[in-house]
Amino acid sequence: MTEKQYGGATGRNSEGSSIKKSVQNPISTQKTKTSKMEKENSKSNQTDKQKILKAGKIAGEVKEYAKTIIKKGMPLLEIAEKIENKIIELGGKPAFPVNTSINEIAAHYTPSANDSSIAHGLLKVDLGVHIDGWIADTAISFDLENLGENKKLIQASKDALENAIELVSKKIGKKEILTTGEMGEKIQETIESKGFLPIINLSGHQIEQYNLHAGLTIPNIDNKSTEIISPGLYAIEPFVTDGNGKIRDGKPSGIYMLTNPKTPRTPIAREVLEYIGEEYQTLPFCSRWLVKKFGMKTMFALKQLEENGSLHQFPQLVESSNSKVAQTEHTILITEKGVEVTTK
Ligand code: CO
Repeated sequence: MTEKQYGGATGRNSEGSSIKKSVQNPISTQKTKTSKMEKENSKSNQTDKQKILKAGKIAGEVKEYAKTIIKKGMPLLEIAEKIENKIIELGGKPAFPVNTSINEIAAHYTPSANDSSIAHGLLKVDLGVHIDGWIADTAISFDLENLGENKKLIQASKDALENAIELVSKKIGKKEILTTGEMGEKIQETIESKGFLPIINLSGHQIEQYNLHAGLTIPNIDNKSTEIISPGLYAIEPFVTDGNGKIRDGKPSGIYMLTNPKTPRTPIAREVLEYIGEEYQTLPFCSRWLVKKFGMKTMFALKQLEENGSLHQFPQLVESSNSKVAQTEHTILITEKGVEVTTK
């Protein structure tokens, strides 16, 4: 999933969530912190780094699986469910609902419980896997029309991602300083050299345990930011368009996130809130998942929880001139030793 910039509330709340798990930095260079963490991890026999890499490996495999099943005309609901089931089959959990966004919808479309839309056009599949809250976030675009323009847009987003990863690998390898602005510059330069525009108000993001959009953002343009990219987990996701290069909010997506849980009035809303806290914690989830568990009365509960401020609902993100958008995304782990693409 992507992060919207300059757009007001993102639904994130760094404090105040009693359900949010304490977050530890898995790649901290401080010896004391690391050894404490290793001790804690020895109980589960898997370090946080191993969980990060395993989540990435599953995400990579699921992406390959998606390539084999997705065909024009297939219901988006079937695509999302098959992908989410595959994640579970391989030993992970979905870190957020599979996004299946078509053409001018840049991101944050997930099928509803009774969705009847079918795959066509330029389809972006953005999927997330987590193991104990350690997330892999990755996306690919499909041209389901065999159109030259679609292929060019997709290729530009792939090239931008590849060049950005090459830049970060080179700089970290030489122990040189790299800013988020320089990453954005590389992405923008690559996309513009192909005659397209990056989406200026969507960006990649840092990731922490149970926190999909944490800390730094990785812009898709040269925003002159001098924030330094330090060891950590990051999603890089260039969005490319032949339109204006900006997104606006579209319809409500049915994708939600817990922000500031408050006790709702009705028993069903209380039951749903409790389940969300246990099952998804601070990761995004969707109405489709909850309808499976609680039936259609879920929609009433979600409405109440949104109104009382417990939940944020993400809007769909639409290109402002209704032009097509392509996206490619990988998650990378930066350590003192170098850069690993976890979602290959
Ligand atoms: Co993302």
